[in-house]
Amino acid sequence: TLHKIAVLPGDGIGPEVVREAMKVLELLKELDSSLHIDFETFDWNSDYYLENGRIMPKDGLEILKQYDAILFGAIGDARVPDEVTIWQLIMPIRKQLQQYINFRPVKLLKGVPSPLANEKDIDFVIIRENAEGEYSNSGGRLYTGLDQEIAVQNTIITRAGTKKVAEFAYEYAKKHGKQSVTSATKSNAILHSMVLWDEVVKEVSKDYPSIHTDHYFIDALVAYFVSRPQDFDVVVASNLFGDILSDLGSAVVGGLGLSPSANLNPERDFPSMFEPVHGSAPDIAGQGIANPIAQIWSSALMLEHLGRADLADVIVESIEQVLLDNQVRTPDLGGTSTTSDMGTAICESIKKV
Ligand code: NAI
Ligand code: MG
Repeated sequence: TLHKIAVLPGDGIGPEVVREAMKVLELLKELDSSLHIDFETFDWNSDYYLENGRIMPKDGLEILKQYDAILFGAIGDARVPDEVTIWQLIMPIRKQLQQYINFRPVKLLKGVPSPLANEKDIDFVIIRENAEGEYSNSGGRLYTGLDQEIAVQNTIITRAGTKKVAEFAYEYAKKHGKQSVTSATKSNAILHSMVLWDEVVKEVSKDYPSIHTDHYFIDALVAYFVSRPQDFDVVVASNLFGDILSDLGSAVVGGLGLSPSANLNPERDFPSMFEPVHGSAPDIAGQGIANPIAQIWSSALMLEHLGRADLADVIVESIEQVLLDNQVRTPDLGGTSTTSDMGTAICESIKKV
């Protein structure tokens, strides 16, 4: 089958790292005649906004719906408020295309030192609820008198939404032979929303008797991420907890330059979106020194989603080989190589697999 991919390079280092991911994907097409993918690039970024007064065309989401997946770089530019780039592009895509799972591998690649002492076997995934939870716009502010102001921010936890996320986590664990699912909670202090979360996770867990379930309070869990990250397999969390855990997870396995993510619509009613965890990195943009690994790995997650786990494995193995060889390293990894050097080295490594 032919896979149609919408490519949104975005701003800053986005286009720089997307270029390297495209190099890898084009190479795989060349090497494997059974891989049929077509790309269409869209320039919906801050320049587009400054020219057109909007960050994507009126029918932008309808256009994206015609694709099988979206490969996204990063967006954000000092000339445009983040309110526009995040809330008029990324959020509408995630929400309207019902990408309610945010999937982030936390894997310490061979050849990368963890900032934690003696850590070798960190390899788990975080499954974050991506559409509801603490990031709702329900609530408001009340002025009740002089110096009396109240802000109320509601958390929306639904039985249906939580069930879908929990089921995704257990299905993932089952499919990948993982032994445990860890649920992040705070039901000792948050007595409505987190209690419902726990109940639903427990119910879903009954359908997976061979998988062990842990319920950890979020404050303890962040400490365990640092003290014993090798013990986790699949971590499932609400939107806010998952957001925090993801950045911590990224830090324990070498940083933003190495962290991929997927925004998934598991039903495949709409395209899923694959993007690095990092942003547009204006501090290093234009210098050609960004690490493209997070973006290249994100495109591996895309291939896996499109049914080519075999090619995704080839990409990850090739990235590890380059890191082990230790000849090519971008500055974030302590070297002096360029973005393009890294992309080329990964391509050379792929040719050898
Ligand atoms: P950032 O992720 O862009 O950068 C944080 C730090 O990590 C910077 O020092 C940067 O140089 C470094 N870094 C990031 N990616 C790197 C890579 N591939 N290689 C080497 N170093 C890398 O986050 P920041 O600075 O908070 O945000 C910058 C802009 O990006 C803002 O406008 C923000 O809104 C936007 N942003 C966009 C995201 C998206 O498109 N999904 C996600 C996060 C931020
Ligand atoms: Mg975050």
